[in-house]
Amino acid sequence: MKKNLPRFLSACSKKTVDCTPIWLMRQAGRYLPEYRKIREKHSFMEMCKNPEISAEVTLQPLRRFELDAAIIFADILLPLENLGVGLRFSKDDGPKIEKPLRTSKDVNKLKVIPAIENTPYLFEAIRMVKRELNNKIPLIGFSGAPFTLASYLIEGGHSKDYLFTKKLIYTRPDVWRVLMEKLTVIVTDYLLEQVRAGVDVIQVFDSWVGCLSPDDYRRFILQFMKRIFSELRTNGVPAINFSTGTSGMLELVSRAGGDVIGIDWKSEIASAWKRIGYDKGIQGNLDPAVLLAPKQVIKEKTAEILKAIRGRRGHIFNLGHGVLPQTPPDNVKFLVDTVHELSSR
Ligand code: CP3
Repeated sequence: MKKNLPRFLSACSKKTVDCTPIWLMRQAGRYLPEYRKIREKHSFMEMCKNPEISAEVTLQPLRRFELDAAIIFADILLPLENLGVGLRFSKDDGPKIEKPLRTSKDVNKLKVIPAIENTPYLFEAIRMVKRELNNKIPLIGFSGAPFTLASYLIEGGHSKDYLFTKKLIYTRPDVWRVLMEKLTVIVTDYLLEQVRAGVDVIQVFDSWVGCLSPDDYRRFILQFMKRIFSELRTNGVPAINFSTGTSGMLELVSRAGGDVIGIDWKSEIASAWKRIGYDKGIQGNLDPAVLLAPKQVIKEKTAEILKAIRGRRGHIFNLGHGVLPQTPPDNVKFLVDTVHELSSR
């Protein structure tokens, strides 16, 4: 049994592997024609809420590529849907929150609903995918981290400068803490419910926390992240702590928790790992734009990362952020096969 542990799970616990495992953030999505075909007939929310569709879309990239993990098709913002803030996904400019939280009163009004009642469709989709995967390929569950969720709730959508968020942090740290407390409870419950439904690994996306200074991360973020990762640890689930723009504070991000730390492409992977600490695994680093390049370039950049790692245990190959919609699927296949081939021991 132990011998057959999938290589992605082996890498999460820093065990030896036959070759480096690879999966890609946003491996299911608009760059795949079979995704776009379903998307033509359904809105993004409809797709998320229909367990059959969500399971089907989760499995689409696994039919094409020899990926080492599946990630359940959902979105980091789903747990915010029924909390009274008016979440919607617009066709052109991404997610929108109709009633952004800006005051103490707004924050107090934010509802906290048990995940099992709020997103039952997600747990059903997880159970369906697990049955299909038959324990051969591990399934990743995920959530947004409290800061990244708070940034959408406060800004009302995607932001370039996060000024409403920072203004709240600096002028009303007490209100900020109330919001982070609520989101920590929501995120923890949502993640543990995914574990109960069967996911093998959790990834926490703190995609936008890199807009903060290290000192602010220490004061306003760290304690909440620690709580989430320690809950996951208590429950025996390996966890990946992903962020972007945090190359100036990798030590802090590592201290927040997670068995594996996800990094973007702004630092060299060898020095990043040293700063993170070799007691943790590392994931990421290839610029998603490299997948728009000729195959020779993809091969060179891949070889560069593998060479820097030198076969150290605990490396999971991934992009530094999600697959871009313009990516040719054939380049994804080439990347996956190249990683396996070049890292074969
Ligand atoms: O394959 C997978 O990785 C699983 C699915 C997944 C989606 N979103 C599907 C999705 C995952 C892991 C996410 C995470 C997510 N969502 C993040 C964190 C990762 C990151 O990119 O930093 C964030 C910030 C979001 C919020 C979000 N959802 C945005 C900003 C957008 C619109 C812009 C965009 O990139 O598409 C979405 C919509 C969304 N989530 C789509 C998909 C496939 C596109 C929906 C469509 O078909 O129109």
